[in-house]
Amino acid sequence: MSDLAIDVKELTKTYRTPLARRKVEALRGVSFTVERGHIFGFVGPNGAGKTTTIRTLMGLIRPTTGSAKLLGHAIPSREARFKVGFLPEAPYFYDYLTVGELLDLAGRLFGLSASVRKKRAGELIARVGLERAQSQSLKKFSKGMLQRAGLAQALMNDPELVVLDEPMSGLDPIGRKEVRDLIVELRDQGKTVFFSTHILSDVEAITDRVAIIARGQLQAHGTPAELVRRTILGIDIMIRLPQEADHADLTAGAERIRRHGDELSLTLPADADVDAWLARAHAAGAKIVQIVPRHETLEDLFLREVALADAPEDGSDDAPKETRA
Ligand SMILES: Nc1ncnc2c1ncn2[C@@H]1O[C@H](COP(=O)(O)OP(=O)(O)OP(=O)(O)O)[C@@H](O)[C@H]1O
Ligand SMILES: [Mg+2]
Repeated sequence: MSDLAIDVKELTKTYRTPLARRKVEALRGVSFTVERGHIFGFVGPNGAGKTTTIRTLMGLIRPTTGSAKLLGHAIPSREARFKVGFLPEAPYFYDYLTVGELLDLAGRLFGLSASVRKKRAGELIARVGLERAQSQSLKKFSKGMLQRAGLAQALMNDPELVVLDEPMSGLDPIGRKEVRDLIVELRDQGKTVFFSTHILSDVEAITDRVAIIARGQLQAHGTPAELVRRTILGIDIMIRLPQEADHADLTAGAERIRRHGDELSLTLPADADVDAWLARAHAAGAKIVQIVPRHETLEDLFLREVALADAPEDGSDDAPKETRA
């Protein structure tokens, strides 16, 4: 058994819209792997290529070039599809169904027996908190309720791998927390979860690995800690300094300088000579309160990578993502 849940190699996808005579290079050589048992966050701004990657993995569209495997099977694979649960980006359901009927239908597509369908639908409806809405048709569901119904539907086949395209979209902070808890619970049951999002706090909280995609290319990939620790932005220092002492010598070249009474806080550049600075501070009669490196947050990284992806590579005009054919 392959220990990779997902293995994507050099995927490209060019959409051609014949009427508008335009080409859109939605994916430009995307490669990554997802280990079994991991929660993998696929992060990128609008139009980055997340849904295109996911639809390709699910066999809904064909890549222009490149290949991918799901659970060891080359896509599109019927065998893999039976072991994968999928929540599409903007799920559309027949709106005259109840959630129970929706889940029963999903169970039938996976060839589950009536008794298994009934048991699992009941459990999942409770798990996503839709018990009280069971008699309503989906037409009456709010966006958040539909998202929960979609999540339950994605789990009907008790999948080994769960692929969720923006599972937190449309949910309020409590709903988002519930989905995060559900994702962690699925991982604890030994499943692999791959989800896309542009909400970074969701990613930082629960993922084992993150990939950042922008303009159809991966910009970074690793554990959240690796990604953010790679870069130290500066050194945050707080000292106590006698009121009468002058701080000009200590604050030269520093940022975020604040002085309240005898308390002075500032940020030295990442490459500052901290020992020399501390010696000067001691000479001025300072007592050190704290010194901490300021790490980049995932949000800083995201903004930086997306900005880089948008910047012209050669200083001239960027290769246009959309071109006339
Ligand atoms: N069927 C299509 N035909 C033409 N262009 C498309 C099609 N689907 C997507 N695109 C284009 O491909 C690019 C990537 O789109 P995609 O939907 O994969 O992005 P995304 O990362 O999922 O964005 P979002 O966060 O908005 O969901 C965009 O420029 C989009 O306009
Ligand atoms: Mg999308």
